[in-house]
Amino acid sequence: MLAERAGVELTRRAPEEREHEKRLLAIHDTAHFYFRQALRGTTGGKAATDYLTGRGIAGPTIEKFGLGYAPPLSDGLLLYLRKKGFSDAEGVAAGLVIEGDRGLFDRFRDRLMIPIRDGKGRVIAFAGRAMRAGVPAKYMNSPRTELFDKGGTLFALEVAKPQIRRKSEAIIVEGQFDAISCHQAGLDNVVAAMGTALTVDQYRILSGLKIEKAVVAFDGDAAGTSSAEKRGRELALVVQRAAQVERARRGSVTGQTATGVYVSLLPAGTDPDELARRDPDGLRRVLAEATPVLAFVIEQVRARSDLVSPDGRRRFLSETLPLLGDEPDPLTRDIYVGTLSRLSGVPEEALREEVAGIRRQGRPSAVAGEPPSAATGEHARAGEREGNDVTERYLMAQLLQFPEEAARLDLAPTEIADPDHRAIYELLRAGERPGPRYPARLAAVAAALGASTPTPADEDHATRGIEMAAMRLRAENVRRRLGEVRAAMNRGSGDVGELMDELASLTERLAGLMRTREQDTVLREAREIEDE
Ligand code: UTP
Ligand code: MN
Repeated sequence: MLAERAGVELTRRAPEEREHEKRLLAIHDTAHFYFRQALRGTTGGKAATDYLTGRGIAGPTIEKFGLGYAPPLSDGLLLYLRKKGFSDAEGVAAGLVIEGDRGLFDRFRDRLMIPIRDGKGRVIAFAGRAMRAGVPAKYMNSPRTELFDKGGTLFALEVAKPQIRRKSEAIIVEGQFDAISCHQAGLDNVVAAMGTALTVDQYRILSGLKIEKAVVAFDGDAAGTSSAEKRGRELALVVQRAAQVERARRGSVTGQTATGVYVSLLPAGTDPDELARRDPDGLRRVLAEATPVLAFVIEQVRARSDLVSPDGRRRFLSETLPLLGDEPDPLTRDIYVGTLSRLSGVPEEALREEVAGIRRQGRPSAVAGEPPSAATGEHARAGEREGNDVTERYLMAQLLQFPEEAARLDLAPTEIADPDHRAIYELLRAGERPGPRYPARLAAVAAALGASTPTPADEDHATRGIEMAAMRLRAENVRRRLGEVRAAMNRGSGDVGELMDELASLTERLAGLMRTREQDTVLREAREIEDE
């Protein structure tokens, strides 16, 4: 009980498990040393150093963040790890080595290496940035491992933590280089969410530091990125989910304990990295003017609304009141009811009733990208199943072509719906390729799957296509489960606290998956292949 109150997780783990974790940490340390050496002592490393210099990253910053370089070799790290006494299986488990069709090879090749550390400063993963344009993936990250979960990690937390505590404020930027440049410019309470605005898990890490403010810096809108309003709505939802879970767990939470989330919108076309280099004081100013996330979204809607005509005001309210319907904290709701009343001229009392009505309906959130609710009925669900089928068949066909991918895929067999598919998947995972040992029915299913598959350009593409498909399948399953959870909630059955927890965590997982799908250029490319 005391541990829970202090936010400490007590676990009793098997000694083998702890030993395994130690080995994974050690292998990361070893790889980190290798990458750093390669930055100093190889031709490619010189080019990488020049690249860093070109980006305005100074020597001491390279040291502080432990930047390195992965040479353009397919087995440089692999051989080094062997020499240092690590098994190939450990290299694969750490995500540093990939087990492919033609054997083992280094995941990171010819990339600038950025170590990712946990809150204790231990290296648990890497991000590798391509050094020139035209490389399929600009950033390649360690996969999810026992040590690393991207959505639950904040880059640079270990260097920023003391200042975050001291200032009772954290700045959250999107990219690792944003954070690195900010620190170099003296903004020392900056962390990076690594490709998202902020996840529930990341928010929890920050609120666990008991700070007042978390300021999320949004890049200035550029073509192709989603609008500030949409990003604001997503962020508001994350914060509301986190608060919901917290309330379900501990009863009411007052504003005192919660960390407020604020948004700063950077000038169009810039990111914190660029601004930190060009105009650090300007960046400081923008960050100091951050707005609470709900106010930010309301302001975005207001700016494009006509608040003069009755219709315009009605529309404005229909686009903003649902935000408050999703807000679990009654005080926060009240504050923004006041705001909306001032802006629309509608009395607070009427708005309060409206919000209460929205909450009674348990109306699903209107944020784009939200999973469909159970209320959309059988029809929609049949459609989902179908989408699931297509993804599943595609995945199976790919796995039959690249069977060794099955073993390292982050996909539980239970995620596969069709019993034959699942049986084949399990056989593949066990290293059993289609052949005489296959039961006749499975052999026939496998043959049928194999007959209609496009062949990917190369193995790298195949690996990505497979990961992409597995991710999509998981997302579809999460979405379906969410619908079930929602349906259960609407029926009022089940333990609401537990359901809320699950709902929050599922939504979060799904948002994470969808965001990766949106952002990762690798995956975008994989999708193109898939579309062919
Ligand atoms: P951006 O595309 O905005 O890149 O992705 P950036 O941070 O400005 O990177 P530089 O300045 O070109 O080096 C934002 C973040 O999204 C994640 C990375 O964390 C990146 O910093 N990302 C992006 C990936 O994980 N994979 C990708 O392929 C691209
Ligand atoms: Mn950038």
